[in-house]
Formats: sequence, structure tokens, C-alpha cells
Amino acid sequence: MTTRAPIMAGNWKMHKDHLEATQLVQKVAYHLNEGDYEGQDVVVCPPFVSLRNIQVLLDAERLPIQLGAQDCHQESSGAFTGEISAPMLARLDVDWVIVGHSERRQVFGEHDALVAAKAVAVQAAGMAPIVAVGETLEQRQADQAAAVVDAQLRGSLDGVSVEDPTRLVVAYEPIWAIGTGETASAEDAQDMCAHVRTVLADLFGQDVADAIRVQYGGSVKPGNVRELMGQPDIDGALVGGASLNADDFALIVTHRR
Ligand code: 13P
Repeated sequence: MTTRAPIMAGNWKMHKDHLEATQLVQKVAYHLNEGDYEGQDVVVCPPFVSLRNIQVLLDAERLPIQLGAQDCHQESSGAFTGEISAPMLARLDVDWVIVGHSERRQVFGEHDALVAAKAVAVQAAGMAPIVAVGETLEQRQADQAAAVVDAQLRGSLDGVSVEDPTRLVVAYEPIWAIGTGETASAEDAQDMCAHVRTVLADLFGQDVADAIRVQYGGSVKPGNVRELMGQPDIDGALVGGASLNADDFALIVTHRR
């Protein structure tokens, strides 16, 4: 049985300007002590415009918080007005990039093949993708959740390298639990994260699947994180709303205390 280090990540979405972002990271760091970072990855994913400030802060204060981005373009440069490439992010010491978040899929029409191209670009730039999947409420009610997630995984991981399986993370985020305050029950979340691992085993073999971390995301809060993290196939959390509050995010990170 492989032991997987938890990965606790905050996805700030389109919140906090660059000054607020710096303050938030300082506050989170204030709440955490050295031991809280041990044996787990702690990641913040601010909007692009705050990456540089946070990079400088983390470097100056030698904080073990890792930097993530929320998206990137699949090409490394070119005439793509408004877009940000993976190599640009890597130059800012970004280590993780979320690709295929449900808001990108739903609001911006991103599909599995595009998500896969982005994940490949992230790896080519030396960073690690957090590939997000998850079903809608209608799909869950129609008993299609497992099939939807299965198809999303196969499409979104096409061409992705698992040479180092610790550098690929899958985030299972049921869309109906995002920003709604409605968390999947720990049992439902566990069931689907176990299903994710079964698909990963089919794609990459059991040993690789056992080493890939699967996060749960969707209304993770200080009050439910412990139960979620207690599930055998849940290896971390991708936190939206609660990551915008330093106290709450610190409590989520320190769920093991
Ligand atoms: P909430 O934690 O606000 O539900 O958001 C989850 C999410 O989408 C993280 O990527």
C-alpha cells in the first residue's frame, strides 16, 4: 500500500487583487508552523496578476507554500491575445497548474482534448498539472456520474506523462458541490475518488494509480475536512471559498493536528 502525501490547495478563482493576495498568503503563513508543511504539499492558486508578488514573498520569507496557477494556454507562445503560457508560469516558480476546472469547462467551453493539451503543456514546462473532473447534478441524478468522470479522465489525460506519478494530481469536483455549501458526503466522495483510481489503474497500471493523488473539491470547510481526509482514496482538497479566508484555509491545512 502506497502512502500518498496529502496535497491541500486553495483555488482563489477570480478573487483578491495583488495587494490582498500578498496579505492573504502572509496571514496563512502566520497560522502555520514548520511541522504543518511536513509530509504534505500546501499550494495557493491566485489569479495570474498576483503570481509575481507572491513568488517574491515566498522567496524572501522562505515560506514552504507552493505556487499554483488556475489555467494556462496549451501553446508556449504566439498570437493568443489575453492568454498566458505554461513556460511563463514556470518562470514565476509556479509548480502546479489546475487544468479543466469545471468553470473552465462550463463557462469557457473547454473540452477534454483541450484539457489534455494543457496538461501536456504544463508538464513540458516542468510543472505538474492538477486535472479536474466532475459531474453535474443532472448527470448524478441520472446515475451517470461514474461514466462521466470515466470519460473525462480518459480524454483529459490523453498524452499525459506518469513518469513521476507524484507530479500528476486528479481533482474530483462534483459541480453540484462547488460554491453551494453542499458537500458530497464523505462516502460519496470516497466512492468517486476510488472510482477515479480504478480508471487510473486501467490507464496506467495499479502501481502508478496507487501513487497518483486524488483530491476532493466542493465546499471543503474546516468542519468537514477531517472526515473527507479520513477516506482512503482522498489524498487532498481543492478548496475554493474557504481558501479566501486565512483562518479557514489554515485550519484545513492543519486538519491532522
Ligand atoms: P468551493 O470550495 O468554493 O466549493 O469551490 C471548490 C472549487 O471549485 C475548487 O476548485
